[in-house]
Amino acid sequence: MTALASTQLFSYAPDGVDPKKVPHKTTYTGAKIPAIGLGTFGSDRIAGEQIAAAVVGAASVGYRHFDCAAVYGNEQLIGNSLRNIVEGGVPREELWITSKLWNDKHAEEDVIPAFEKSLQDLRLDYLDLYLIHWPFPNYHAPGCDVTSRSPDAKPYIHENFMKTWRKLEELLAMGLVRHIGTSNMTIPKLRLLLRDARTKPACNEMELHPHFQQPELLQFVLENGIVPIGFSPVGSPARPDRDRTVSDTVDIEDPVIVKIAERLNVHPAVICIKWAVQRGQIPIPFSINRRNYLSNLRAVTTDPLTEQEMDAIARIDRNCRLIKGDVFLWKENQTWEDLWDLKGEITTP
Ligand SMILES: NC(=O)c1ccc[n+]([C@@H]2O[C@H](COP(=O)([O-])OP(=O)(O)OC[C@H]3O[C@@H](n4cnc5c(N)ncnc54)[C@H](OP(=O)(O)O)[C@@H]3O)[C@@H](O)[C@H]2O)c1
Repeated sequence: MTALASTQLFSYAPDGVDPKKVPHKTTYTGAKIPAIGLGTFGSDRIAGEQIAAAVVGAASVGYRHFDCAAVYGNEQLIGNSLRNIVEGGVPREELWITSKLWNDKHAEEDVIPAFEKSLQDLRLDYLDLYLIHWPFPNYHAPGCDVTSRSPDAKPYIHENFMKTWRKLEELLAMGLVRHIGTSNMTIPKLRLLLRDARTKPACNEMELHPHFQQPELLQFVLENGIVPIGFSPVGSPARPDRDRTVSDTVDIEDPVIVKIAERLNVHPAVICIKWAVQRGQIPIPFSINRRNYLSNLRAVTTDPLTEQEMDAIARIDRNCRLIKGDVFLWKENQTWEDLWDLKGEITTP
């Protein structure tokens, strides 16, 4: 255990939010997920110790939902935080802990060991949700740049994806995870999964913020009884350079968002969070800054945005995907659009 994680002890913060007042979403199995979670990806810049400390701090102010992943490289440190939180008096059943299978562990023989490593690192005996992080089995090294490609990279192959999914179904049957789900999927890929899965996904994690609202995918997910979890809900202002292009827009500088923030005297990020929860998705904002993660949590328990404000935000969608995924492309002369099935069909080899 590192010094910082071990000294960051859980206690109920007097200025925190009562977790019982935080709204929740219900999965098709009847489980309740807190309607906001804390992201834990430090964008390759922020030390795991700082993130682990933020996990304890966030629990102290009332967060009960944490979005983790093996590839974030900090699950061991976060495991210490979760242990502190539970030993500090939060019943395990009150927590919602998600982790994700990384792209280099899709092979049938790798799935269960990869899951067990996350479970052990997080110091838990079950997870609430396990996601397949990306539908491609394509590895990229932590901290790589946008031109980085794996020589073994492959396109989406449904038959292979189903082999990975079957192993997640096995984890469910083993009682090691309560729900399984997907991330970075498209409608055509989800259609195939829904056709072939024995257990359908409980949640789909997808990029969602005011400038990237993905209305069709959101509607598809909701119509199929899948809970949408929205990543980069603030527009990921500190994302890695590999995820930045000159045409990207900035949600928290949008005049519509800024004007509402001024009315409520909050940071524009808080408006993105309010909008997300009110729209029906679960945002998982990242922050290591107590003031910010506390205002994000308060945002979901205070007065909602007006109908006019919700309508105004609906109109500022720029279809601006930020996490484009170039590093997962599998052959020369492709563009990131090839990963996202923009023509309504799965892009084939
Ligand atoms: N499934 C996937 O493939 C996938 C992909 C990307 C992300 N994710 C998950 O989604 C989480 C969130 O996404 P993200 O980290 O890309 O971006 P994000 O949550 O949109 O943005 C995080 C940034 O916003 C700032 N921020 C947050 N709340 C704020 C507030 N109230 N006021 C001012 N600034 C605020 C944070 O700075 P401070 O720390 O200074 O507050 C941080 O730099 C990740 O951590 C990860 O768990 C999943």
